[in-house]
Amino acid sequence: MEWEKEITNKIQNANSLTELEELRLSIFGKKGKLTSEFSNLKNLNDNDKKDKARLLNEMKTNLENLIFDTKNKLKTLELEQKIQSEAIDVSLFKNNFSPSYGHPINLIFDKIIDYFIGASFAIKYGPLVENDFYNFEALNLPKFHPARDMQDTFYFNDSMLLRTHTSPVQIRTMEQGKLPIRIISPGAVFRRDYDMTHSPMFHQIEGLVVDENPKINFANLKYILEDFLTYIFGDIKIRFRSSYFPFTEPSAEVDISCIFCKGSGCRVCSHTGWLEVLGCGVVNNNVFNAVGLKNVSGYAFGMGVERFAMLLYGVNDLRSFFETDLRLLEQF
Ligand code: DAH
Repeated sequence: MEWEKEITNKIQNANSLTELEELRLSIFGKKGKLTSEFSNLKNLNDNDKKDKARLLNEMKTNLENLIFDTKNKLKTLELEQKIQSEAIDVSLFKNNFSPSYGHPINLIFDKIIDYFIGASFAIKYGPLVENDFYNFEALNLPKFHPARDMQDTFYFNDSMLLRTHTSPVQIRTMEQGKLPIRIISPGAVFRRDYDMTHSPMFHQIEGLVVDENPKINFANLKYILEDFLTYIFGDIKIRFRSSYFPFTEPSAEVDISCIFCKGSGCRVCSHTGWLEVLGCGVVNNNVFNAVGLKNVSGYAFGMGVERFAMLLYGVNDLRSFFETDLRLLEQF
């Protein structure tokens, strides 16, 4: 039959499942070609009817099989097309990668830690969520002590907080009571602060050396910090300026001669010729009392890692370290 050839051709050339379904309906649907041929059978005489019915059934089987096969073929084809169009080319950005050797903060951490490992300090870590005792009380900062205002604290409740400095690690280490102690403690700290030189999360490195009396004194502290600062900043002048910290007595802040103007005065050093880089002192006896250590002496120091990174890399907005901007990070 001419019609059968024609429709067979159309089915074989169908481009989509929708097109195939339209063809199927044009054959087998209510108003389909074969459906009406079958219903026309009743108008024929018995003999013709038999022959025609056999022919129609044969055609039906053939077309059904063809449609079934074509459907499978088209399904596979459509799936393949879908997979191809949704494929992710993992090699796409390959040529855009620029090598980086680490986050600037980590690079400075490594440099500082390297020095202290060389000077026989061990590394100690402490929890970021602290309680009032370790962060304040034991560090000679009792409740309502005015110096608590020096640090804007994130509190969870009356006693739990995000540590405002790495000094609680001093307490946790001394609490264990093993002497001598010679540690540094690197890590994140948190304060309610946000501007060019402050971010709510930043990093410090704490140092603590404790031994039985009368071994440790301010001269030891001065020696190690001068050596350390020269290692980090090179040829600079260093001065110890009398200061106040509740956990040390006497206390000092340490300045280096400005590395940008060599001490003649510029914008970075506020025309003073000096840059403040860390705090330190001889451990206050009240701190030893809080952890039950007797007849010992020691020194402590603390520094901000971002401050070092800003100076060493000439970055003037501290917040940019944490903005994950590739234009900055790729330079390291
Ligand atoms: N904890 C101080 C701060 O966050 C830094 C500091 C100063 C630590 C003097 C010390 C120290 O151990 O002796 O501002």
